[in-house]
Amino acid sequence: MPIPGHKSLTVGVREIDAGTEGLCYLMSRLFEPMVECRRAGGVCDRTQCTRISALLRYVDRNFLAQEALMEQADYPYEDHHRREHWRLVHQLRRMREGNVCADRDRTVVSEVVGRWMMEHVGECDRRLGNWAVTRRVLDPSS
Ligand SMILES: [Fe+2]
Repeated sequence: MPIPGHKSLTVGVREIDAGTEGLCYLMSRLFEPMVECRRAGGVCDRTQCTRISALLRYVDRNFLAQEALMEQADYPYEDHHRREHWRLVHQLRRMREGNVCADRDRTVVSEVVGRWMMEHVGECDRRLGNWAVTRRVLDPSS
């Protein structure tokens, strides 16, 4: 699992780095040992994983914020960046619909998110951060 604050997960812009740190934090909480899945009706039946749903809720919010920034900064690589966001959303939804369980199949889920994060932050988010700073839409982190 990626480590928050790791150099490859930092783009040097607070607004973007905060989103990545939040995802790392959520991952560490979701995959903490002895954490039980919460279900309204009681015991988890290992369908429609609530941990994957929590990841989807978080990334949806984070991606919306980045996509608003892209529009604000008139970002030229918006289509590619959005497709990369969708790639993770699609993978998570497919796992949830396929009843992948983030408890029983925790390695699979954490590897999918971790691998995506390592690829996405280092390339797409870094390029967006640099562009937003160059266009003076955001300030670099001090
Ligand atoms: Fe992104």
